[in-house]
Amino acid sequence: MDHGSLPIGVFDSGLGGLSVLRELVARLPGEDFLYLGDVARLPYGSKSHAAITRYALGCVDFLASRRIKALVIACNTATAMALPTLREKFPFPVYGVIEPAVARAAAATRVGKVLVLATPSTVRSEAYRREFNSRHPELKVEELACPLLVPLAEEGWFDHPLTVAVIKQYLAEVRERDYDVLVLGCTHYPFLESSFRQAVGEARVLVHSGPGVAVEVEAGLMLVQNRNRSGKAGRLRFFATDPLPQGQPIVQRWFGENVHFELVDL
Ligand code: DGL
Repeated sequence: MDHGSLPIGVFDSGLGGLSVLRELVARLPGEDFLYLGDVARLPYGSKSHAAITRYALGCVDFLASRRIKALVIACNTATAMALPTLREKFPFPVYGVIEPAVARAAAATRVGKVLVLATPSTVRSEAYRREFNSRHPELKVEELACPLLVPLAEEGWFDHPLTVAVIKQYLAEVRERDYDVLVLGCTHYPFLESSFRQAVGEARVLVHSGPGVAVEVEAGLMLVQNRNRSGKAGRLRFFATDPLPQGQPIVQRWFGENVHFELVDL
C-alpha cells in the first residue's frame, strides 16, 4: 500500500504548535495534516514527567488511530519528556522540536553563548542542555523558565507592552548577558516574536524550531519516498480536547477565521 497519501500527525498541549504547523504546510503544501491541540490539559509546562508522558501517549494514540505516516511533537515540553517513549512505541517516524532548534542555534551563534527560554518542565528536564552538551559542548548555554508567556500567547497579547515588560523582567534574571542567540524553546513563543524583538533589540538572533522541523520532515519523507504524490493541495484537519472560544487569537493569527476544530475526548 502507498503510505505516501496518509496524513502527518501534529500535536501540542494547546495551540502553540500551530507555529510549527504553519512552517510544515509552507514547506510541504501537498501533504495532509491532522493537528491535535490538547487544550483541555494545557499547560503541560507545569506538569510532571509522568503526567506529560501519559498525555502525550493519549494524543498520539488518537492520531495513530486515524492512520498517519509520521508524527511531529509540536511542543517542546512533550518533546523533552516523551520523545524516547513515543519513538519506542509507534512504528512511524517521530520528530521532536528540540534537536532542530539546537542545530539552528549552534549555526547562528558567533560568540558561542546561547540563551534558551522555555516552560518550567522543559527547563527542569534539561533536555536542551543535554542536546547542546552532546552535539555542541563548546557552547555556553543558559536556560530560563518563563511560565507567564504561554498564557499571554493564548490570550493573544502578541505585541503588547505588558508582554514586552514580562519578557524584560525574565531576562533580568539571566546571568550571562552577552549571548547572541535566543532560543524560543516553546512553540507558543513565536507568536510573541515582535514582543521578544522589542525586549532584546535588533542585534540578537531569535531561533525557533518550526523551520528546522519542516526541513527534517521533508528530508525524512524523501528518504523513504513517502511524499504525497497526488499533486493536489494538502488537506488540514484540526482537533481539540476542549471547545475553543470563537475567534481564538492564536488560531486566527495564521490560519484565519474559518478553521473548524473537531472535539475529541481522549
Ligand atoms: N507549547 C508548549 C511547548 O512548546 C508549551 C505549552 C504548555 O505549557 O503546555 O513547550
